[in-house]
Amino acid sequence: MRPGKKTDILIVGSGGREHAFGWKISQSSHAGKIYFAPGNGGTFENIDIRQNDIEKLAAFAKNRKDLLTIVGPEEPLSLGIVDEFRKEQLRIFGPTREAARLESSKAFAKEFMRDAGIPTAPFAIFTEPERAKDYILRQEVPLVVKADGLAAGKGVIVCDNSEQAIAAVDGMMVRQEFGPAGAKVVIEERLAGEEASFIAICDGNSMLPLASSQDHKRVFDGDKGPNTGGMGAYSPAPVIEGELHDRIVNQVMEPTARAMKNRGTSFTGFLYAGIMVDEKSGKPYTLEFNARMGDPECQPVMMRMKSDLLQYVDAAIDGRLDNMDPIEWKGDTAVCVVMASRGYPGSYKKGELIEGLGSDMGPDVSVFHAGTARDSQNRVLTNGGRVLGVTALGSNAEQAVEKAYSAVRKIRWGENGHHYRTDIARRAITRPA
Ligand code: AMP
Ligand code: GLY
Repeated sequence: MRPGKKTDILIVGSGGREHAFGWKISQSSHAGKIYFAPGNGGTFENIDIRQNDIEKLAAFAKNRKDLLTIVGPEEPLSLGIVDEFRKEQLRIFGPTREAARLESSKAFAKEFMRDAGIPTAPFAIFTEPERAKDYILRQEVPLVVKADGLAAGKGVIVCDNSEQAIAAVDGMMVRQEFGPAGAKVVIEERLAGEEASFIAICDGNSMLPLASSQDHKRVFDGDKGPNTGGMGAYSPAPVIEGELHDRIVNQVMEPTARAMKNRGTSFTGFLYAGIMVDEKSGKPYTLEFNARMGDPECQPVMMRMKSDLLQYVDAAIDGRLDNMDPIEWKGDTAVCVVMASRGYPGSYKKGELIEGLGSDMGPDVSVFHAGTARDSQNRVLTNGGRVLGVTALGSNAEQAVEKAYSAVRKIRWGENGHHYRTDIARRAITRPA
């Protein structure tokens, strides 16, 4: 950013994460115009370019001097949007295609963790279904079967027994339910414990951790039903405060950044480690990496951030994070409840009129849009599985939960068209002190 001059921003993506980035950056005194490509029904200055159309996005950026681009989702990153923009001398925040392999290939991430000594579940990698099935039959522990490639958060099957694991291999490798993403699979030991999301902003050398958070991946209350992109999140996650926090920085985040740099693929962007705190040993294991900010985690995290996100992103692009102060956070708890279309993560209706968005939600509530669109009369309609992220700040988890759900109850669509979990952040409330 140039001193005294405002910077225009392009946010690539269309989810709650991107809306929350825009909401936060719009509060920066350094922010000029904020564009979203393609954005959703809650974002403004939407540009009609798909998130994977790298050529058109680059052409848009080239026409606007000093535009700074922030990439939300994994797909454009794994397609090399950062490499293309850098070639054209355009300012962009995110990892290169090679660095984004931490997310786009689970086999790569597991081998990387093994080589870098980062604690993760024991695993094996297969390209042939028969070998994968033989391996399953020889294992005595419960297993998890993962498609190697990107599968919109659905390519992981947590199995109770070998029949389920074999069925998962058949689905991925034989019936090719995830297309080429399932041609290779990772089979790993199933761990038990509490999960949390640890995300840091990285500049290729140094990193600054963001506030911790916890997602709710399963579609129904009590962590039942299939995995989704995330049904709600809260920050901070008490499970990784204190000593465990430092351990994750020292044993996972910093070794990852160092090893990525050493192999010539430095990581710039948001590095996200999905952590499982093993219930027996209390040790943190890395379940996965994401090469981007989490969604919905971004929503509560942005609501708690006091510092100017834009200044940190700008510094990270230039490798100046080590000169920056630690990021400041509000002491409050933030809770995000995702309102989804009934049927998600399976099939669901689109195009339902959303009612109640104009209600008075109170000062500590933000309704971030995800799968929404506007019709010709500027009304907001549903347009996806995860529709809204209703996010509230409270002085503790109980209060934030209360505010978020009282806002959720003001919103509806279709005939019984929405679904949300009623137990978001319950773990933070019922946790023994
Ligand atoms: P991933 O996309 O790899 O994070 O997997 C999605 C979800 O599957 C995680 O958030 C966990 O709930 C679950 N999962 C993944 N790996 C394991 C594992 N080794 N043990 C138990 N659960 C797992
Ligand atoms: N909420 C999980 C993710 O962003 O991958």
